[in-house]
Amino acid sequence: MKAPTTLSLLGLLPALTSAATLTQITTPFGPNPRNVTFNLYVPDTLAPNPPILVNQHWCHGTAEAAFAGSQWATLASKHGFIVIYPGSPNAADQCWDVSSRETLTHDAGGDSLGIVSMVRWTLDKYRADKSRVFVTGISSGGMMTQVLVGAYPDVFAAGAAFAGVPFGCFAPAGDNAGQFDYWNGDCATGKVTHSPEEWGAKVDAAYPGYDGWRPKLQIFHGTEDEVVSYVNYGEAVKLWTEVMGLSETPASVVPNTPVAGWTKSVYGPSGWLEAYSAAGVPHNIQNQESTVMAFFELGCTSGCFAWGKGSPCSGQASASSTSTRPSSTFSTVMTMPSTPPVSTTTRTTSSSVVASTTTAPACKTVPGGIPLWAQCGGMGYTGATACANGACTTYNPYYAQCVPTAAC
Ligand SMILES: *[C@@H]1O[C@H](CO)[C@@H](O)[C@H](O)[C@H]1NC(C)=O
Repeated sequence: MKAPTTLSLLGLLPALTSAATLTQITTPFGPNPRNVTFNLYVPDTLAPNPPILVNQHWCHGTAEAAFAGSQWATLASKHGFIVIYPGSPNAADQCWDVSSRETLTHDAGGDSLGIVSMVRWTLDKYRADKSRVFVTGISSGGMMTQVLVGAYPDVFAAGAAFAGVPFGCFAPAGDNAGQFDYWNGDCATGKVTHSPEEWGAKVDAAYPGYDGWRPKLQIFHGTEDEVVSYVNYGEAVKLWTEVMGLSETPASVVPNTPVAGWTKSVYGPSGWLEAYSAAGVPHNIQNQESTVMAFFELGCTSGCFAWGKGSPCSGQASASSTSTRPSSTFSTVMTMPSTPPVSTTTRTTSSSVVASTTTAPACKTVPGGIPLWAQCGGMGYTGATACANGACTTYNPYYAQCVPTAAC
């Protein structure tokens, strides 16, 4: 067995005072048929029975870029939780496999199983809290977030997906059916739409017979997303309200939250689904760590997680619920504070894929420029900044990358 390898950082976060680093785990950690790389951030001081957060990078991103490009490691050091940064094995585009039958099915393989194996290994090694495993990501990482909460509802307590697509939307039809890491242009451009029942059937098929806990979910999407169409925001709301058994009519709509121009819609009486529509925002949507932190209760120190199962935090009484959720893999019985989002509806499986009719305008090219999705800026970055195609867009002070424009 090889010792864990320390990865070099793209840039140091100013607020990161911990000596902890991102570490690649190369020892066997469970089934990982696609060879997803396992990068782990364990802060020097862990909370007792710590929560775990999985943070997936975007296409052409890396675990290191996700590590340096968000506040999650800093927040993990402050609050004592563990962060797993998986790395895509898909050399062609460094996207996540969100299309294969394996990845879309519980414990069947694909990139999703590799990531879940990392979670299971970390739960065991660090005596982490299996009732508080969370997942987030942007773009392809947002797509994988929806894959994981759909196919592994027993593993994750909640997810937060930025600029992703609904579970199963990237699964290709016809000759390409079942392909790993398939870029589904119809889905990305908003041409794949389904009824709530049709979407729900895809999630049902991911884990046949499962009728237990459904993770909470936050969805964030820019209305001007030029890479992953905003249509996918509405489709995701259809899918998850169906899966959670919630009304498609929001219980509340809050303008200018968490930032001006963004609208928060809350579904269900217990807020199991939160959808944030970011007016005027393109694909490079800003991470909203504090909003996600609050939803996951990752900063909570007492009386927290009343919506979850068990009593992971000091002072937490068992939830004042009359509804006990069935549990297939958790060792403790889960109790819920309010209506559990479990749906047992029988669903139809027909699909509708609308044909493409749009023609893209010409794309400007800068010879020798930086390719799409590669880094073009950010604190500590010293390379060239001109993109070959598209525009150099800043995700946060630490990371900018070339992303397609409407023309590219
Ligand atoms: C994963 O790695 C193993 C060992 O190197 C190799 O045999 C296997 O083909 C790899 N799988 C894929 C999908 O690349």
